[in-house]
Amino acid sequence: MRDVKKRPRPVDAVPAAGSLPHPTSTRFLAYEELKAATNNFEPASILGEGGFGKVFKGVLSDGTAVAIKRLTSGGQQGDKEFLVEVEMLSRLHHRNLVKLVGYYSNRDSSQNLLCYELVPNGSLEAWLHGPLGVNCPLDWDARMKIALDAARGLAYLHEDSQPCVIHRDFKASNILLENNFHAKVADFGLAKQAPEGRVNYLSTRVMGTFGYVAPEYAMTGHLLVKSDVYSYGVVLLELLTGRKPVDMSQPSGQENLVTWARPILRDKDRLEELVDPRLGGNYPNEDFVRVCTIAAACVAPEASQRPTMGEVVQSLKMVQRVTEYQDSVLTSSTNRPNLRQSSTTFESDGTSSIFSSGPYSGLSVFDNDTISRTAVFSEDLHEGR
Ligand SMILES: Nc1ncnc2c1ncn2[C@@H]1O[C@H](COP(=O)(O)OP(=O)(O)O)[C@@H](O)[C@H]1O
Ligand SMILES: [Mg+2]
Repeated sequence: MRDVKKRPRPVDAVPAAGSLPHPTSTRFLAYEELKAATNNFEPASILGEGGFGKVFKGVLSDGTAVAIKRLTSGGQQGDKEFLVEVEMLSRLHHRNLVKLVGYYSNRDSSQNLLCYELVPNGSLEAWLHGPLGVNCPLDWDARMKIALDAARGLAYLHEDSQPCVIHRDFKASNILLENNFHAKVADFGLAKQAPEGRVNYLSTRVMGTFGYVAPEYAMTGHLLVKSDVYSYGVVLLELLTGRKPVDMSQPSGQENLVTWARPILRDKDRLEELVDPRLGGNYPNEDFVRVCTIAAACVAPEASQRPTMGEVVQSLKMVQRVTEYQDSVLTSSTNRPNLRQSSTTFESDGTSSIFSSGPYSGLSVFDNDTISRTAVFSEDLHEGR
């Protein structure tokens, strides 16, 4: 790689990217601007380092706080892939996805940088397993809010973006938090579009992170939308148990979170063994059981038995609505309307199963029939996920 300092670029440089079209909605940023934003990529501004390069904290000249990811060179092929990725990323917009502000690419120096909005409150990984949650661990409500936000981000990639996008590296360190614990999914830039909208995708190199990778992807390289669902299930287990996906300091047999949790998840009388002690016993027991059921379904060994992310969003929303409803019954003297007013026409069949297919379809996770069914699904019809 050539030293970019010897190749100064004017501030309004055009990208040297051959004939590839450049994304219009995402700004091409001058290298000088990114350099100035990060004080020449000074070590003090490093937020962290992942498998694809370092991430720097910075402020653009217009005052936007950003995180700048400097990708390790992938050669000329990598440059081409990079621009294809940027083109794809710039079309994805959702309140639970980290926004791509701009990018820089120079084929001559093989420099590729991505500039994201800064999400200031750390990653879920840092809160669960790192320094952030040490004094004040995430409480149950924050965990459930994060679980739902992250599920919505993934569901958008899978079901609402055209064509469908598989994340491929969904994990706790790719869930970033705002100060109010609103969660955003990051690093879908490493995702590949499913060709022609197909949900099957044979990848040439198996990517992803140890402990999160679905068995079919690890063994055959077959990447499915449902491989993301598996990774999501691992994150849900982390939220429930407070354990890392792989932790060699655990007793023998407990090192791998999914392997340890699976038999316990199958036995309703043992579920308490899973509870994160840092919750201090402050969690609604019924909801814990419900979320365990969702997690168990997501990490099913057979991809076809896992729910879709849309189904996960619906079931997590039901968990939270049931809690809200029960709260409202307890505080009914105040006459506070807890459930969102709505006149949705969604037709629930009234069964309490959360998943329409697979082995979990018969599970009675939601047995509180008193909840107003008209309110349960109303949000989806209006929120424009
Ligand atoms: N947009 C962002 N805002 C704030 N922090 C970020 C942002 N993107 C990445 N980070 C932080 O930078 C670190 C490195 O990120 P990354 O290179 O994606 O590696 P990984 O996700 O494998 O940890 C992570 O700890 C993450 O918290
Ligand atoms: Mg990341």
